[in-house]
Amino acid sequence: MRFESKVAYVTGASSGIGRGAAVRLAEEGATVVLIGRRAAALEEAAAECHGRGVVLVLDVTDGAAVASVLPDAIAEHGVPDVVVHAAGETVLGALDELTEQEWDRQFDTNLKSIYHLNRHLWPAMVPLGGSIVTIASTASFGAFPGDAAYVASKGAVLMLTKAMALDGASSGIRVNAVCPGFILTPNLQGYFDGQADPAGAASGASAAAPLGRMGTPADVAGAVAFLASDDAAFITGTSLIVDGGLLARVPT
Ligand code: NAI
Repeated sequence: MRFESKVAYVTGASSGIGRGAAVRLAEEGATVVLIGRRAAALEEAAAECHGRGVVLVLDVTDGAAVASVLPDAIAEHGVPDVVVHAAGETVLGALDELTEQEWDRQFDTNLKSIYHLNRHLWPAMVPLGGSIVTIASTASFGAFPGDAAYVASKGAVLMLTKAMALDGASSGIRVNAVCPGFILTPNLQGYFDGQADPAGAASGASAAAPLGRMGTPADVAGAVAFLASDDAAFITGTSLIVDGGLLARVPT
C-alpha cells in the first residue's frame, strides 16, 4: 500500500496503459482521478479502482477546458502526489504524407497535453513535492518507418521529462518516463487491424521481444507504480524501458 492517503491523477485512464496504471495505483491505496474523454469507459475503469476512483471527463488537448475544470478538481479531490500522463494516440504516416492537421493533432495529444495539465498541477505540487510519470516509448530511442510525427512526439516527451525533472528537483518533484515496447492495448490492436495481415503483425510484435510476448498494461503499471513511489526516491529525469528486451537486441 505504497500510495495510501495519496492522490493520483492519471490521463488516458479509460483504456490500455492509463487504465492499468490507475487500477494499480488504486490497488496500492491511492485515490485516483481518472481523466479522459469517454465518461462510460472511465466509469468502467473507476469501478476497478477499489472504491477509490473518481472520474474527470476532459479532453487533455483542450487548454481552455483544462483551465476551466482542473482547478476545481484539485480543490475537490486534492493536490496530486502522483501524476501519470498516459493519454496518447498514434497518427501514422511518413513526414511527407502527413497533413498539418495530423501533425498538430499528434503533438497536441502526446506532448502539448502535458503542458496544458502541468500549468495547473505543477503550482499546486510545488509546495508539497510529488512524482510525475510520463509515458514515452521505445520510439523515444529508435524510429519506426512511416510514423514520423509519433516518434518525434515521443522523443520530445522524453526530453520534456528530463527538463521537468531539473525544474522540479528543488521542490521535491521527481519526473520520470516509462518507455513501453509493444503493449497489447486497444491502440496497438487498432494498429494491427489496419495492417494487411493483422495476425502476422501481432505475432511479429511478440517475436520481436526476446521475452517472446507482447507486454500487458499490468506490466507497464508495475513500472509506473515503482517510479511514482518512494522506492524511487532518488530517481529523477530518467527512463525505464518496459519492452521485453526489444531494445537490447542487436539486429542480426
Ligand atoms: P489506448 O488507446 O488504449 O489509451 C490511450 C488513452 O488516451 C485512451 O483512453 C484515449 O481515449 C486517451 N486519449 C487520447 N486522446 C485524448 C485526449 N485528447 N484527451 C483525453 N484522453 C485522450 O492506448 P495505449 O496503448 O494505452 O497508449 C497509452 C500511451 O502509451 C500513449 O501515449 C501511447 O503512445 C503509449 N505507448 C503505447 C504503446 C503500446 O504498445 N500500446 C507503446 C509505447 C507507448
